[in-house]
Formats: sequence, C-alpha cells, structure tokens
Amino acid sequence: MVATILLTLISTLAALSPSVAIVPEPAWNGHTTPDSVTPATFTPYYVPPGAKSYDSSSPLIHYSKGWQEVFSSAHVGNSFRQANQLGAYLLFTFSGTGIEAFGPCDELQGMAAVYIDGKLVRMVNGACPNTRRLVQQRLFWVFDLSPGKHTIKLVNAAVRAGSNHATLSFDAFVVTLGQAPTARELSRDSLPPATLQTKSWALEQKGSTGVNAMQLVVISPSHALIVDKVEHNPLTIDGHPAWAALYNLENHSVTPLSLKSNSFCAGGTFLSNGTLINVGGNPVVEDKTSAADFGDVNGLQAIRIFQPCISQSVEGCAIYENPQRIRMASPRWYSTVLRIDDGSAMIIGGSKKGGWINNATTNNPTIEYYPPKSIHGSKGLPIAFPFLEDTLNANLFPIAFALPDGTIFVAANTQAMIYDWSKNSAHHLPPIPNGIRVTYPMAATAVLLPLSPQNHYTPEVLICGGSNVDDRKPGYEISSQNPASAQCIRMVLNDEGISRGWEVESMPEARLMPDAVLLPTGQVVIVNGAGTGISGYGNVRNQVGQSNADHPVLTPVLYDPSAPHGSRFSRSGMPTSNIPRLYHSVATLTPRGDVMIAGSNPNLDRSELKYGTEYRVEWLRPPYMSMARPQIVKGPKQVLFGQTVELTVGLATKSSSKIKVALMDFGFVTHAVHANSRLVYLDFKLPEDGDRLSIVGPPSGKVYPPGPGWIHIVVDGVPSEALHVMIGDGKDPQVDDAALKKCGVSFSYCGTFADDDSQCTGEHKHKS
Ligand SMILES: *[C@@H]1O[C@H](CO)[C@@H](O)[C@H](O)[C@H]1NC(C)=O
Ligand SMILES: *[C@@H]1O[C@H](CO)[C@@H](O)[C@H](O)[C@H]1NC(C)=O
Ligand SMILES: *[C@@H]1O[C@H](CO)[C@@H](O)[C@H](O)[C@H]1NC(C)=O
Repeated sequence: MVATILLTLISTLAALSPSVAIVPEPAWNGHTTPDSVTPATFTPYYVPPGAKSYDSSSPLIHYSKGWQEVFSSAHVGNSFRQANQLGAYLLFTFSGTGIEAFGPCDELQGMAAVYIDGKLVRMVNGACPNTRRLVQQRLFWVFDLSPGKHTIKLVNAAVRAGSNHATLSFDAFVVTLGQAPTARELSRDSLPPATLQTKSWALEQKGSTGVNAMQLVVISPSHALIVDKVEHNPLTIDGHPAWAALYNLENHSVTPLSLKSNSFCAGGTFLSNGTLINVGGNPVVEDKTSAADFGDVNGLQAIRIFQPCISQSVEGCAIYENPQRIRMASPRWYSTVLRIDDGSAMIIGGSKKGGWINNATTNNPTIEYYPPKSIHGSKGLPIAFPFLEDTLNANLFPIAFALPDGTIFVAANTQAMIYDWSKNSAHHLPPIPNGIRVTYPMAATAVLLPLSPQNHYTPEVLICGGSNVDDRKPGYEISSQNPASAQCIRMVLNDEGISRGWEVESMPEARLMPDAVLLPTGQVVIVNGAGTGISGYGNVRNQVGQSNADHPVLTPVLYDPSAPHGSRFSRSGMPTSNIPRLYHSVATLTPRGDVMIAGSNPNLDRSELKYGTEYRVEWLRPPYMSMARPQIVKGPKQVLFGQTVELTVGLATKSSSKIKVALMDFGFVTHAVHANSRLVYLDFKLPEDGDRLSIVGPPSGKVYPPGPGWIHIVVDGVPSEALHVMIGDGKDPQVDDAALKKCGVSFSYCGTFADDDSQCTGEHKHKS
C-alpha cells in the first residue's frame, strides 16, 4: 500500500545544478563504450590478468576421434573444434584452482558432460538461450578446486530437444592459477594449515560466489545475498556478467540477480517489514566495464529494494530499482546504513563521488533516512552532520550502532560520538586512543557487545584494528608496507563508562580491514585483513598487484569479552587459511552457527594477479558445530516487543542457569563494517516439562530495532541452529508525508520522491 503510493509519486531526472531545472542526466539511461554509439553484444570470454588461456589448438588438449577444427576469426585464436558424435571427448590437465570453458553456442549444440578429476560434475547445455548464434560464450566454470593438478573432460552427450544428434563445440579454456600464500606468509602463523582440521575449530573451503563478495547479508535460513561492483564476474545474467547473486548456504549453488545500477561500495539494511534496501554506489565506470557491456546505470543515489525472500528455491526473488522514482536525496559512495528504533534506515555520510580517500570537496557530511523523514526542518532533505566534517579525511563507511536508548554511536577516523537523531544533537566521546584511525581507508572492524537483561542492556562497543597512517598524505607517500594497528578498544556507553574512557587491548597481530563476527555464545571471532597497508587498490607505493595492503592475516582469533583483561584473545586450535582476504572481503555468521568467509578483490576488475579476485568460500566452524546441540523444534514466525512466546525445544538440560536465549542480527557486512550486527539475550522461563521454553521478546525497538532476527538457544556454550523470526509487528516503516511532498535540492540533485520540481531551489540549511 505504502509502496504503491511511493511508486506512483512522480519525480524528474536529476538536475545538473539548481539553476538548470530539468535536464535529464544521461547516466540514468546507461552509457555506451566511449566513441561508440551502439552497444555491442557482450562477449564473456575474458582472461583476467594473471590467468592463463589455452586455445582449442593447444597441443596440451587431447581430443578423441571425431573432432574437426573450424577456422573463423570470430573465435579465440581464430579457430574452434567441434564434434558431432555421441561420446566424443576432450581431455585437459591443468594446474590451478579454477577453470572456465568457452565456445560458440547455437541451436545445433546439445548437452555436454563435464568431468573434473574423473567425476561427473555438471551437464552443460551448449545451445544459446535465444536462436541467435553467439561466440566465445562461457559453457562452464568452477573456482573452488583445491590448489594443484586437475583434469577436465568434456564429453558430447549428443542430446538436444527433439533430436538425438547434437554438436559439442569448444573454443578455449581459461585457467585460474590460484594463489598460494608464500612460505614467508605461512611461517608468520605457526599453526596448522587449513587442510588439517584440529578437533576443535575447523576451516573448510567449499563453494564459490560467482560474483565477488564485496557485500554480504544472510536473507533467509537457506540463502545469503551477495552484492559486488560491476566487473567481469564468471556468473552471468541477461547476457552480461552479474554483480549480485543469491548464495545457497545448503548446497552452495549461486543464482545471479539483475541489478540496474553500479552497486560499488553500497551499504544496506533490512527495514522493519523485512524488506532489504541496498543504497548508494558508483557511477558507470567507463572503459572496460562500461554500460555497453554491462548495461549499468549510475548508482550514486540508488535505492535497490529486495523484498523478503524466504523460499528455498528463491524463485521470483529480485532486486527492484527505479532510479527515476526512488532514489536518495544525495549521492553517496561508502555510506553506512543502519536500522534505527522506528524500523527505518538511517544513511550516514559517504562521498559525493567515487574515488579514494574522502576530502572536503567530495565529502557528503549529512545523514538522510529511508523512507525520508521531515524532521528538524529538513523536509526529507539530508540533515547536516558536522561530525563528518570534523573527521576528514579517513571517515568513509563510518562505524555505527543503534543504542538501547535510541541514540546512535558513530565512530570515524580518530573520533567517536553519540548522536540523538530525534533531537539532532551530538555528544562527543573520548577520541580513539593512540591516534589510531578506524574508518576507510584505515578500516577497523567493530561490534556492539551483547546486550542482556542482566547488564540492563548497557551498551559497550568494541573496535579492533585500523592504522595510524597520516590521512593527509597523498597515496605516493603511503606504502602497502606501513604497519597496521593491533589495537582493540572498548567502552561502556553510559556516563560512568564514558568517564572511564576506552579500555585498550592488543590483538595477537595487527589487522587492517578485519571482520568481527559475533557468535551466539557472546564471543567474537575476528577474521580476514592485512598486517600492513591501507584499504583500496591502485593508490599507494609498493602495491601488490593493485592491492594497497599486504601481509594477509590468515589465522582467525577468538575474543571473549567476559574474560579478564589480558586473557581475552585466543588462537588455540584455530586453523590457518591459505586464502588471503584483503580489500572487499566479508564474513558473517550463518543460521547454522558457523562463519561464512568470502571475497577479497583489491582490483579494478577481475584479476588473477596477486592479490586477485577471490571467489572461493570458506566455512569456519567453531567447536560447537561438531557437538550435540540444542534444538529449536518449533517456534513462532513473529515476536512482538515484550511478548511471551513458546518455543518447542530439545535441550538436554533442565537447569535454567545453563541456558541463554540469543536474539541476533547477523548484520549487513561490507568494508569491515558489520552494520546492524547485534546480540540481545532474551528473558525466558523453562516450564516443568523441559521441552518447551517461554521466551520474552526484546523490551523495545530501541533494544532491538524492529525487523528480522535469528534466535539461538545456547546451552552451556553450545548454540542451536537459528530460528528466523520477525521482531515487532512487521509493518512498513512510517512514511512521512511532509518529506515526500516537498522536493528539495541537495548538492545538485533533486530530492528522493520529488513530485514538484518548482520546489528545487537550493540546499536545505540545517541547524547544527
Ligand atoms: C540447490 O538447492 C536448490 C533449492 O533447493 C535447488 O533448486 C538447486 O537445484 C540445488 N542445486 C544443486 C547444485 O544441488
Ligand atoms: C578529492 O577526492 C576526489 C575523489 O577521489 C579527487 O578527484 C580530488 O582530486 C580530491 N580533491 C582534493 C582537493 O584532494
Ligand atoms: C517495506 O517498506 C518499504 C519502504 O516503505 C517498501 O518499499 C517495501 O515495499 C515494503 N515491503 C513490503 C513487503 O511491503
């Protein structure tokens, strides 16, 4: 209903400046390659820097009888091979972690069987989805092979619709060599490598994301949503590479999603009605990933809407975008998005254009809301947020958490504050100790430590990592070898805690761009990141490939907030990965209770050079994954604030003192920021019979902002798998008519839901 009203509101295209009222901005309609008029058909064949291509004429490829060579300049190496007979095959041995097969497709092609190392892994269809013949199409890809030697065999199955004759055509292989860490990197960690599972923690590499996992959010018991930037990913949709996908947490299959705009460095959150929004991004990047190939439009003001998708088949799940009608009031690249106590999204900061480190020219030191709010005289326009002027330059992707009194904790660069959004007032906190910068491109990670009735929902934040590199230095004065910080700091956010100030601790290793993941046990596991350098690519001295950072940290570390100072970090039994996870890496808890680790792509476009684009997924399994676990057999789909509901459980204990009920938000993860990640322990009662548990919903939307959540029962430190619930009434966030009716101009763009452009007169002035 609300959505319908919003959608029927009319706005116009962005004006280039307030004085030029209604000039269509061509970016919204897509670009073509510079100097060309007509978009060309996209050709998937692509050899990332560092990968190796083997043409069909390579002597290393062994063909059975029945293959012919066909010469034509439209194909890789000016030729391809084809076979018509059933059982005709080709065999190729390669060394690496992935392989792609390319060939022409047309209506004569049939099914081919793909064997890897002697095992049938897939039947692929060589026929084009439409009747037009296309060349250099991707027939098959796999990116999660173990490092080393493998064989691939393609066999003509000679079946196609309505016929038992079919052709198999083959043009080229592209091999992903895979990057093994050097002996030096591994020797930094004296712990056993990933393949040796210790009896405690385990790390398994399984699955690949198909698009780089720059942004990650769990959307249902069976799926996570992955959002990337526009680039040459192997997963395709609508005849071009995809830059978003749904990842099946159960069988590791990926389903591409269609996006209109470039989502490079967008942020996201669920709203109170379970809809996920993904906002901001980058303009169309010219040249190799221009819209002629990919069809993307400017994403700087984008609002991408993903309606709740809980079916296992993910059928019909799609991202909706209508840039003409629904967009932010100002452009934002690298903004943090937070769900607040009224179930709407607060969108904090960002840069008005893509680039690298923020500066006064590109800074967007404002907040805005979705749906927009007309508060503090803003009429739906961005509201000035001077903290982001005071924290230049390293202040993108601010660290932010909604606190249990409804205020917002924000940290950027070396500063921290509490913002009361209902009063538009700020309360400054003690600065980050030792001059450590904690936000992009000196990214630290942070969590809000568990809230519980026992601690009276007293908030305490933990921030780990970062760097003290001078953020006024140009890139050529910064090096990928500048050491990162090992500092972790925490502060209780009440008067007493604030006057005590930050408590300083040290991780076993320095980390830039780490990911902190809250476990239902209340512990925090820290993974990913670099020992040296800063975030981003292509900016500093001593780049490794294009990476601004080096010395990947390969061993996770566990942090126990309730242990005494000095003994909170532990790496005992932690496996060491062999996959560097640097810029554009992510990690999240899954509903099963293990940690999904993905991404790493410090590159402009897909690359296999060190440090390349990483599609492999790893699963970090805490010891409890292999223990007998409590179970939630049945529970409600919805829990209102303060409501008592019953769960049917399998507990193996009748002692309340051993039980905890954890309500979690796994967060929207990107750039080391785990926005909305949260753990609230709930009140509960264990009735006599022991297989039912009465739990009480969180007291208010301030303690847990209304929206989706996950409930785990934790018995003696062993959590159950999670129950997916809606916390609160599940209604749409409130829509503020005063914010919709008026149009305003912020920077050079019209407001979000402008319906009257005569109102576009200039930037709204705010009190600060
Ligand atoms: C994975 O599961 C989904 C949903 O249950 C199913 O549609 C899909 O075919 C499965 N894929 C594989 C590779 O098993
Ligand atoms: C500010 O950042 C933008 C984007 O990275 C860059 O183009 C511009 O040169 C920078 N301006 C200054 C004054 O450094
Ligand atoms: C949730 O609210 C948003 C914002 O008003 C809206 O766009 C979306 O369609 C709503 N979702 C559902 C499922 O109604």
